[in-house]
Amino acid sequence: MKVLVTGVTGFAGSHLVDYMLTLKNVEIHGILRWRSRTENIEHFRDKISLTECDLRDASSTRDVIEAVRPDRIFHLAAQSFVPTSWTAPTESLVTNIIGQLNIFEAVKKTNLKTRIQLACSSEEYGLVHENELPIRETNPLRPLSPYAVSKVGQDMLGYQYFKSFGLHVVRTRGFNHEGPRRGPVFVCSDFAKQIADIEKGRREPVLHVGNLDARRDFTDVRDIVKGYWLALEKGEPGEEYNLCSGRAWVIKDMLDYLLKMSKVKIKVETDPSRLRPSDVPVLLGDASKFRKATGWEPVIPFEQTLQDMLAYWRER
Ligand code: GDD
Repeated sequence: MKVLVTGVTGFAGSHLVDYMLTLKNVEIHGILRWRSRTENIEHFRDKISLTECDLRDASSTRDVIEAVRPDRIFHLAAQSFVPTSWTAPTESLVTNIIGQLNIFEAVKKTNLKTRIQLACSSEEYGLVHENELPIRETNPLRPLSPYAVSKVGQDMLGYQYFKSFGLHVVRTRGFNHEGPRRGPVFVCSDFAKQIADIEKGRREPVLHVGNLDARRDFTDVRDIVKGYWLALEKGEPGEEYNLCSGRAWVIKDMLDYLLKMSKVKIKVETDPSRLRPSDVPVLLGDASKFRKATGWEPVIPFEQTLQDMLAYWRER
């Protein structure tokens, strides 16, 4: 089976490849941009095929898909950091929506029966009322950032290409996922890295934070990528599925858990530049639809994930 991973050099992409390398008969292809950092893929670089491609360029995308002729595409490439979508909204919308459109058009033209997984997001739900928790797939979408709007666009485009052209698209709405290799701008990684830097004496013992009241449903990335795989094995084309743990952490509690593991005493300070124009207050999901369709169950406790993330940054 030929599999194409977009965003292979990224966090989820590299973990998905780690997982697929444990399976039999999977030929893995990845695409990367010429400027991509490759530290996440060095350990398996010689076990997969890599091609340069920019998804924002329709001809570049078509060339790769025609050459690889993938049976499956895991579409993980994206501008994925919410705050960047306020400073670079156009870039975020073009990369996420047009990049995906180019994949769809290329697959449609080649007449392949490719199964396509879309990394949609719980951010699409945006403003969720307490009486709507835990969030099911039927919840209204009330996106609160250009990033969230871009993910709604990807999600709806997936639905539409399934309905209009019969493309085998499965939409996974991933809630927050964390683990080693997580980009240093995201909250768990950011806090773990600050702690590791402070322990090394590389910065003052002051940890900078944004909104600590938000609640997020965290899952280990190593569980999430197994879900992505199952989505194309067993998920219904045209459907959307929540991937989440069903447990919400207040960001402050996550921070306290990391601080408890710290070897030094650290002061916490709010940095106003880390506060967002509108932050999603709570994301707590219900994954029963996906569990029923695929049997997926996350198994790694989030406490373990946090320990692994701190260990990762200490080692680096
Ligand atoms: N990044 C960051 N840095 N976030 C902070 C900080 C900080 O210093 N302090 C508090 N937060 C809060 C944010 O305001 C937000 O409420 C929460 O921590 C999580 O922030 P992020 O880790 O940046 O993730 P996100 O929830 O905005 O988005 C992530 O999850 C989505 C799925 O729900 C990203 O991975 C998205 O790409 C993904 O779609």
